[in-house]
Amino acid sequence: MPNFREPVTMDDLERYAAQHLDKNAFDYFSSGSGDDVTLHENRQAFKRIKLRPRMLRNVSHQDISVTVLGHKLSMPICVFTHSLSGNGASRRRTGHSQSGEFHGHSYGSESILYKQSGRPYGKHKGRANFLLPGHLEFANFLSLKKKKGFRNNGELGYYIGSLLDSSVDWETFDWLRSITSLPFVVKGIYTAEDARLAVQHGAQGILVSNHGGRQLDGVPATIEVLAEIAEAVRGTGVEVYMDGGVRLGTDVLKALALGLERCLLDGLLSGDLLTRESKGVTKVLQMLRDELKVAMALAGCASLKDITPSLVMRHAASHL
Ligand SMILES: Cc1cc2nc3c(=O)[nH]c(=O)nc-3n(C[C@H](O)[C@H](O)[C@H](O)COP(=O)(O)O)c2cc1C
Repeated sequence: MPNFREPVTMDDLERYAAQHLDKNAFDYFSSGSGDDVTLHENRQAFKRIKLRPRMLRNVSHQDISVTVLGHKLSMPICVFTHSLSGNGASRRRTGHSQSGEFHGHSYGSESILYKQSGRPYGKHKGRANFLLPGHLEFANFLSLKKKKGFRNNGELGYYIGSLLDSSVDWETFDWLRSITSLPFVVKGIYTAEDARLAVQHGAQGILVSNHGGRQLDGVPATIEVLAEIAEAVRGTGVEVYMDGGVRLGTDVLKALALGLERCLLDGLLSGDLLTRESKGVTKVLQMLRDELKVAMALAGCASLKDITPSLVMRHAASHL
């Protein structure tokens, strides 16, 4: 007999987290910026898009594998890094902490994720007074903390914030590209104009993202701009990924129908953060994979190639 008290969806996990994490941590994970307009839009826009399933198709053998920067993945869903994830775990350190002038994250140490975060980080009332608890550390800045003699995370955090560099631009991108042979993925691209610039400047991938509604509040949901970006880079070989508001397998299906060719990244709900179990991430990925496979079968899609724009009703959301 299934245990119905087990979380079955990512929304269940979020409710569980709201009840079990301390408020400081939950507010940090769950808040957006400004008035949370974009944070909510990321979810709502998925709900407005409706599906057009096809019937009587053989879906007995499903293949949902994809290739990302030359690596084969078993499904088009990944969990991505984000800052201070250890904050959700009980007295456990994490290697995910990150900040800096521009983000040069290592993606499996085999590519660089370039994100301009030199601009002031979107403010939000929910995490305005957030403080990294004393038992956790900004893992990337331990030696700096020691060198500068900072007594606590508050002093260190303030200093890190002062290092953010607002002058980062495409020239900086070119310079960074010139000193490494690693492939580059640019995160946060939101217009066809910038997508074309990313191609011109030699990016190998574009991650369409509004950072989970945590930066510029008032931009549309990621799913609403995905098609524009996919169209702008079509035929260039540049890979397009997205994140923002993905909570269901049907969301993944809709994104794939609307131009996502490769991979969809889910940033926030590493269940790790939400359930205080290291198995949480695996659980979330399994949930999404199972939901995607069921959704594809019910929509008549055996493989990702079967997922075409005709699978979604565009007039259900007139702005798409
Ligand atoms: C708590 C938290 C911290 C984040 N920190 C970063 C960060 O340091 N760098 C970054 O590029 N994105 C960061 N993000 C954004 C995520 O990488 C991702 O773009 C976003 O969460 C996707 O939206 P979703 O949460 O709706 O899935 C963070 C997100 C959250 C929720």
